Amino acid sequence: MAEAKRIGILTAGGDCPGLNAVIRGVVKSANTHGYEVVGFLRGYEGLVDPVSFIPLNHKNTTGILCQGGTILGSTNKGRFSATVGVNDRQELDPELVAGVKTTVEQLNLSGLICVGGDGSLAVAQQFHENGIPVVGVPKTIDNDLSSTAFTFGFFSAVFCATDALDRLHTTAASHERVMVLEVMGRHAGWIALYAGIAGGGDVILIPEIDWSFDNVSQAVLAREQKGKKFTLVVVAEGAKLPTGDMVLQEERRKEHQQVRLGGVGNVIAHEIERRTGKETRTVVLGHLQRGGAPTTFDRVVATQFGAHAVRLIVERKFGHMICYQPPLMGSVPIIDAIELSTVDTEGSAVQAARALGISFGDGVHELPFKYQPEETVTAPADKELAAAITRRKAKAGKA
Ligand code: F6P
Repeated sequence: MAEAKRIGILTAGGDCPGLNAVIRGVVKSANTHGYEVVGFLRGYEGLVDPVSFIPLNHKNTTGILCQGGTILGSTNKGRFSATVGVNDRQELDPELVAGVKTTVEQLNLSGLICVGGDGSLAVAQQFHENGIPVVGVPKTIDNDLSSTAFTFGFFSAVFCATDALDRLHTTAASHERVMVLEVMGRHAGWIALYAGIAGGGDVILIPEIDWSFDNVSQAVLAREQKGKKFTLVVVAEGAKLPTGDMVLQEERRKEHQQVRLGGVGNVIAHEIERRTGKETRTVVLGHLQRGGAPTTFDRVVATQFGAHAVRLIVERKFGHMICYQPPLMGSVPIIDAIELSTVDTEGSAVQAARALGISFGDGVHELPFKYQPEETVTAPADKELAAAITRRKAKAGKA
């Protein structure tokens, strides 16, 4: 009897809505291609010492499409760390890598799907360099991975933050208060920017744009003069203070471990109240943004990521990560994808926000739209994408 073809999958790093949708997408599409699937538990930890995995099948993945979290569990504090800081490589322990190789061989895996953010994909990249057949699937609510327009989980987090702003809006208006909403976004302000636009924020503070307390207070007072007695401020947890410092919840507990951010909202609220005399309150949204059901968009993206990750294994395109460049799903070498993607401070979203009068706390009030010719869209990440774009253009030309 021919030996079963088998694929492994794991979810690593911080969780986000849509991980289960990827797992389901992988299982269904792998089965279609004649593969069995095993899921490793607690991220990379399940790969070695002790190896822990479960078979994944129709039975245990049915109904998980709409569930938050991950049925496989995850960790971002384990033994597998391939970065020191942002984009700063740290070598994995060779013994661990050898252990992973043995697991992959013993389970006769055709490929291993690693679902993770920049840190977790940096681990996958080192696996690839060591001959382990991996493919990557990008995941993070922060949306800060390059080569993919969006990661799943992002819009679910934005939905949560927008809902919070909607709720804060009515109470802020009723009490003529300033409300500061602190959202996640360690290195990039995507959640703050998108939720700020979607939820009618008046001030958006992100790590990419330097801001000052003066400018933020001025924005509050300018609204007051126009008869708007309340203001909504959205701030990314990673937005640096004018001194250049980030606000931490606590100091680093272990070397190479990322610090816990949190508290910038409170600092800002305190200063606004002091400078404007307006009563100011803070809400820190925290992990609420990481939980709950994925939005429809995230389910669609996550499901496609799962199916296309299987395709990469079938095509033996190891060391690649699935990427979404609307409307196309393509792939890029993982090494090119683990760069940070931050908000383009001159991009369309920031320009539109400024045109609406939203303040970024930098004292810039209105910026004329900059002309961006259509052909300046990002270059396609790989040959398949380039070919697909050419096909699409040709089709549009004929229509
Ligand atoms: O990277 C996603 C993220 O949600 C960041 O925005 C946040 O700083 C971090 O994870 C929190 O991680 P943890 O749950 O380990 O504290």
